[in-house]
Amino acid sequence: MNFPIAPIQASDFAVEVDNIFLALTGLTFFFTILVLSLLLFLAIRYRRGSKHSRKGAPDEHLVMELSWSLGPLVIAIGMFVWATKPFTEVYSPPANAEEVFVIGKRWMWHIQHTNGIRENNELHVPLGRAIKLTMISQDVIHGFYVPAFRMKRDVLPGRYNTVWFQPTRPGRYHLFCSEYCGTNHSEMIGWVYVMDPADYQAWQASGGSRSTQETETPAMAGESLYNTLGCANCHGEVNNVHGPTLYGIAGKVRQFENGSTAIADDNYLRRSIIDPNAQVVKGYQNIMPAYPVGNEQGKLTEEQVLDLVAYVKTLGSAAATAPGEMAAATKPAATPAHPAPAGRTHTAIKPGASAPASKSNGSTGNVGH
Ligand code: CUA
Repeated sequence: MNFPIAPIQASDFAVEVDNIFLALTGLTFFFTILVLSLLLFLAIRYRRGSKHSRKGAPDEHLVMELSWSLGPLVIAIGMFVWATKPFTEVYSPPANAEEVFVIGKRWMWHIQHTNGIRENNELHVPLGRAIKLTMISQDVIHGFYVPAFRMKRDVLPGRYNTVWFQPTRPGRYHLFCSEYCGTNHSEMIGWVYVMDPADYQAWQASGGSRSTQETETPAMAGESLYNTLGCANCHGEVNNVHGPTLYGIAGKVRQFENGSTAIADDNYLRRSIIDPNAQVVKGYQNIMPAYPVGNEQGKLTEEQVLDLVAYVKTLGSAAATAPGEMAAATKPAATPAHPAPAGRTHTAIKPGASAPASKSNGSTGNVGH
């Protein structure tokens, strides 16, 4: 008999979530039935006129009262501890997870892989690999929901949300939007394909299922935007009088004029593009124009901002991992040492370091991709 009460389990989370759900349901059944049958039994046994007498029953019974107070308390705390583990895991992707960008817009899912493959309403992932989704909405709140993975997360306008999963079973699984987002909300659906690693590689090599010519990676698209928008004029390979370098800042602590600090994560990088006044790096003036996001002409799309963020994240890391010749080939000979491995504060602007390299950073970014 095929009578499923839950979707197929296709990720590690699915097993954990189901076990917790089953345990909670089982506990609920157990106590409901226990209380209800005791209630009925006692009500009938000691009804008015019954031959059973209640005389001699104790007014209090310490052991009984303690046990029905402490017992459920222990069970509830146990459930809490058990459920906290996967709950916290869902929000902390492992460092080696493969990143995929998701943009939600009315009414479709746009997916961008770091190697440049783009998909609409489809997401292909390899089996057994941790996949981290970095998601943002271009308009209203959507929800990225794959029941088979027991994975659901809101996709918000204005900030990146992340979630991750590790598929454990090849196949094709429903993707839903779980947040009412307007007329065609019910059509904002798609498929997640979990493929054997070999099939996945072949799929990747053929350029994915949709894109034929678009093999430009997000970081590459970000790099050309970076140059078109003239970012390099102020943000070169080293700090200059106009602005701090962006090389190697990703993931590091930034210090601001107002004394506060922040980690340069995706959301920080995004905010620094669309609202640079919000956090001015210590030692600098608020001279950068904002690059707002929107659908109107002249504004950046969320996809472009994602591309820029992806590019900035490659800055510095490529130089750090690339062999020496690469670095030498793309840097003017007299370039001073890299600003100490990122994250340093930018209190001092080295006078001698004024942007000798602003044009050259283009080609270093993608090394190794
Ligand atoms: Cu998007 Cu509902």
